[in-house]
Amino acid sequence: SGNEMWGGRFAAKPAAIMQAINASIDFDQRLYAEDIAGSKAHAAMLAAKGIIPAADEAEIQRGLDAILAEIEAGSFAFSREREDIHMNVEARLAELIGPAAGRLHTARSRNDQVAVDFRLHVKRALAETDGALGRLIEAFLDRAEEHAETVMPGFTHLQVAQPVTFGHHCLAYVEMFARDRTRCRDAIARMDESPLGAAALAGTGFPVDRHMTAAALGFSGGPTRNSIDSVSDRDFALEFLSVAAIAATHLSRFAEELVIWSTPQFGFVRLSDSFSTGSSIMPQKRNPDAAELVRAKTGRVNGALVSLLTVMKGLPLSYSKDMQEDKEQVFDAIDSLALSLSAAAGMVRDMRVDAGAMRRAAGHGFSTATDLADWLVRELGLPFREAHHVTGRAVALAESAGTGLEDLSLDALRTLHPGITDAVYGVLGVDASVRSRTSFGGTAPANVRREIAAWRERLAAR
Ligand code: ARG
Repeated sequence: SGNEMWGGRFAAKPAAIMQAINASIDFDQRLYAEDIAGSKAHAAMLAAKGIIPAADEAEIQRGLDAILAEIEAGSFAFSREREDIHMNVEARLAELIGPAAGRLHTARSRNDQVAVDFRLHVKRALAETDGALGRLIEAFLDRAEEHAETVMPGFTHLQVAQPVTFGHHCLAYVEMFARDRTRCRDAIARMDESPLGAAALAGTGFPVDRHMTAAALGFSGGPTRNSIDSVSDRDFALEFLSVAAIAATHLSRFAEELVIWSTPQFGFVRLSDSFSTGSSIMPQKRNPDAAELVRAKTGRVNGALVSLLTVMKGLPLSYSKDMQEDKEQVFDAIDSLALSLSAAAGMVRDMRVDAGAMRRAAGHGFSTATDLADWLVRELGLPFREAHHVTGRAVALAESAGTGLEDLSLDALRTLHPGITDAVYGVLGVDASVRSRTSFGGTAPANVRREIAAWRERLAAR
């Protein structure tokens, strides 16, 4: 017959252009291990339930093992005529073991097959993302420990706001990436059900044991409960992309800070040679390319989420071929995120932190103005609003004199409020400022050390 796959019904081969739009083997060959695992579990179940003869099952298992070895050795010839990974494996199985291969697809469709393959793949990607996030968090914790007392300017609106410790700033990222880890786990728990055995969409009349295949494939939630939903659901892919987009967005914000911090104007960090590039024309340049690319990869990941949401939004139940477009987006997001997480961890570990530059910058911009206002409230009993006003005049005075707040003379300060004593100088320095921020979650070095210890314990506990 002219058509290898559907020769019973179809006389002619697909047009070349049809093959170009329809064949997914170029990208879904990435699912080979999951596809073979799914087929092995299915075949074992079919034999256990007496649906296929045990001898045929043994042949099928042997053939599938051989195919796995061929693919891993790079000797498997993927064929576009065979459309996708599922047909490529099955057709090769027929070549290897003959007619017994034809029994494997009993009580199964490519619709539940692709759903189970893809779920397994996405589940693994989430577990790997969780691990990579853990390694990034450890890198941040190490730097936070080193710099628990290093004072830097904290910013709002990218304007100097109040002094903070660099350790505390690192721990802000730890919080963000730790939330991403919990999102990975939540998503895994929700997608941990096997769609295998839903068949095309309606279930099957064969006495299959879906609990058996679910357990064999490591789905702790057992089989999915509705055959229609099983083949039309891509929530698991959307959830992965959502988790990935949020994590990538966190990475992008950090990358943006690295780009800013590594400018000569800031000079807070120097990225290592291994994560920078030079310029082909300007010999002085050190460009933060890795940070910029981490920032840019976020666009791909966020784009993948919007892309798949858009593919899915108009689809009637159950399976439509549109859903084949889920894979390239997800694969690209998996790879982009993994690369970005590794690059970020590398940059955090390797970057040189210039504590002196951070400290100098923290002293600029009247960063301790709030401390002055708080002092007026605490020591002189001023209402905070009035203290804010007095402090504002002190800032104006210092600004016109071209000095910092701590450089104003006591006489000058007393013109603003007669109750001010020279004890006020004790709060105008940046170290005193950060040391005083001991409220729960505040930036004081003692807090930072306590939080680092708590994070290390949490990391060890899992
Ligand atoms: N390659 C297809 C996909 O990725 C497999 C499922 C095909 N099912 C079908 N009824 N054509 O979605």
